[in-house]
Amino acid sequence: MTSPNRLSFARPDDGALDALWMPFTANRHFKASPRLLATAEGMSYTTPEGHRILDGTAGLWCVNAGHGRREIADAIHRQACALDYASTFQVGHSGAFSLARRLAALLPGDLDRVFFTNSGSEAVDTALKIAIAYHQRRGEGQRTRLIGRERGYHGVGFGGVTVGGVVANRRDFGPLLPGADHLPHTYDRNRQAFSRGQPDWGGHRAEALERLVALHGASTIAAVIVEPVATSAGVLAPPVGYLERLRGICDAHGILLIFDEVVSGFGRMGAPFAAERFNVLPDMVVCAKGLTNGVVPMGAVAVRRPIHDHFMQGPDTAVELFHGYTYSGHPVAAAAGHATLDIYEREGLLSRVSLIADQWADAVHALRGSPHVADIRSIGLVAGIDIEPAAGRAAPGAFDVFTRCFERGLLVRAAGDCITLSPPLIVQSAEIAQITGILAEVLASF
Ligand SMILES: Cc1ncc(COP(=O)(O)O)c(C=O)c1O
Repeated sequence: MTSPNRLSFARPDDGALDALWMPFTANRHFKASPRLLATAEGMSYTTPEGHRILDGTAGLWCVNAGHGRREIADAIHRQACALDYASTFQVGHSGAFSLARRLAALLPGDLDRVFFTNSGSEAVDTALKIAIAYHQRRGEGQRTRLIGRERGYHGVGFGGVTVGGVVANRRDFGPLLPGADHLPHTYDRNRQAFSRGQPDWGGHRAEALERLVALHGASTIAAVIVEPVATSAGVLAPPVGYLERLRGICDAHGILLIFDEVVSGFGRMGAPFAAERFNVLPDMVVCAKGLTNGVVPMGAVAVRRPIHDHFMQGPDTAVELFHGYTYSGHPVAAAAGHATLDIYEREGLLSRVSLIADQWADAVHALRGSPHVADIRSIGLVAGIDIEPAAGRAAPGAFDVFTRCFERGLLVRAAGDCITLSPPLIVQSAEIAQITGILAEVLASF
């Protein structure tokens, strides 16, 4: 008998795939011609048929140290045997405290109070709730408005979708949270095409925050949330001066600034966090993914100490924040987090990208001139390639490029019209060449 977790996929028409409603997936298309992964090691997956698939996306922007890291698996096993579960409501266990302390040490400035969640989406919603509750505590309970940005992605909770700026993620879900607004995105192809690193043009787009302040009144705005580098919606690096300007306007009006570093954190931009790389200190940092190398779900919100301390008033037996998850600071996730940070430290992965970013940019920008390439943007160890019809040729969608890459042994990500790349931080020169080589072949094949 086939054991329930070892289904045979030899005949996908036998209904073996039907019960699972896959997230962010064209389910019927997938189930008609599945792309299944069976094992993973280092920079690659292997399919059930034994084909190697080079991981050009670090799983889903999360496997920063590469796959199959034995130390993480061992740490999880040891932890599950020693203490499988303990809540962090009213009781505690050492792993969550020590991981919070370690994470705080990686973050710049006084971002040294940490709240654990299980995902980026939960961490985003947690940060938004902390922002509103903070203003309540300060006697400014009317500050409830949340400002996001067009083309921003902040997960799929109602808070994150409300401040997010990807229309497909918003349009089917009703009015979302009331009172939110959005900054314009920072992209203008005419002025920024084929940018490496931060585009020179566009810093002034932060001034749109002044317009929202004038429109709504600063006293109604709780927080602004942005990804320092927008990634899921097509890799948009912050124009020179943009984040600094946002920080200045927030300061001038008492608005909290939240950086969503779910992707940009843990070394992807060449520093532990993008806040350090761009030298702009937000009031909160949201992270997840690379925190545990993607092995066990975990997210976190780091909060500047004065914000945290505002909550630590009144009777010391009173709960300060009525918020938390059954699995906040889960012992097994905390063990995975420690083992992951050990690897990052030992292998210098949190700064490695600063050494290879130029090589990465040279390789991906060499695709300029390939058929259907309308723009290429790169920063740190990410890149976005906009796909468009080329003269006289049938137009592939980014999804077509994705499927042909998979058939040729490369995992990329299709996001709208953009192919995004974000390999594990351990990527070597030969693998960079393979990634861009397969992409060049695929682009020429339409
Ligand atoms: C910037 C950003 N924020 C939040 C999220 C949501 O994280 P999760 O999918 O873990 O909920 C993501 C996921 O890709 C992300 O890229």
